[in-house]
Amino acid sequence: MQERLRALLIAPPGAGKGTQAVAISQEFGVEHISTGDLFRAEVKKGTALGRDVAAYLARGDLVPDDVVLQLVRVKVLEAMARDGGYLLDGYPRTLAQAHAAHAIGVEMGITAHAAVTFDVPRDVLVDRLLGRARREGRSDDDEKTILHRLDVYDCETAPLLDYYADLGVLVRIDADRPVAEVTAATIAALRAKVGAGA
Ligand code: AP5
Repeated sequence: MQERLRALLIAPPGAGKGTQAVAISQEFGVEHISTGDLFRAEVKKGTALGRDVAAYLARGDLVPDDVVLQLVRVKVLEAMARDGGYLLDGYPRTLAQAHAAHAIGVEMGITAHAAVTFDVPRDVLVDRLLGRARREGRSDDDEKTILHRLDVYDCETAPLLDYYADLGVLVRIDADRPVAEVTAATIAALRAKVGAGA
């Protein structure tokens, strides 16, 4: 039987992780787990975790690794038990998170088939996020925080692409084109990866 997809989306703010995750999770029948959405939900509910992470989100800084791992570990294991796969959007974002995720994956036999990145020029990312700010008003979408989030990505997260390339699971998608084209290219690349890993 074909294995269920296990994949990570690792790309800068505005690259289309959330947009593409909806279509990919539907196509492959796996749960979309967005760490950003999970944190925003905790902030909105006013939980202890939400109070702890609110300032990080507002500044566009990364939430500490141990806090992220506690949350993600539970969600991934729940998703594996339910669907037999997962689609992680926005995790991992540091080398420490990537090493922790890989160690858990090896221990449980659930390492990712693919780590997908979406390539989009920086000026396009800024335009997309400013556009979303006008439509939705997300608290970290003001220009100063957007630029900071992009710097944090370049510094903390971009180095993960080499890590996943070395593991042989990196998938690079040109995402500076219409959403449907990005979706089609991503799904085709992921089908090949799941088939190769099965
Ligand atoms: P998170 O919610 O993950 O935010 P992000 O990485 O900044 O990503 P965005 O949601 O801004 O962009 P996206 O790539 O999902 O693009 P989208 O599809 O929305 O994280 C928020 C915060 O949580 C972090 O800053 C951090 O504080 C914390 N956090 C989360 N995970 C963490 C972790 N692992 N460790 C530590 N801290 C963590 O699209 C953006 C816009 O572009 C939309 O308007 C969309 O319609 C448009 N668009 C998308 N694709 C296209 C296209 N092809 N053409 C034209 N427009 C497009």
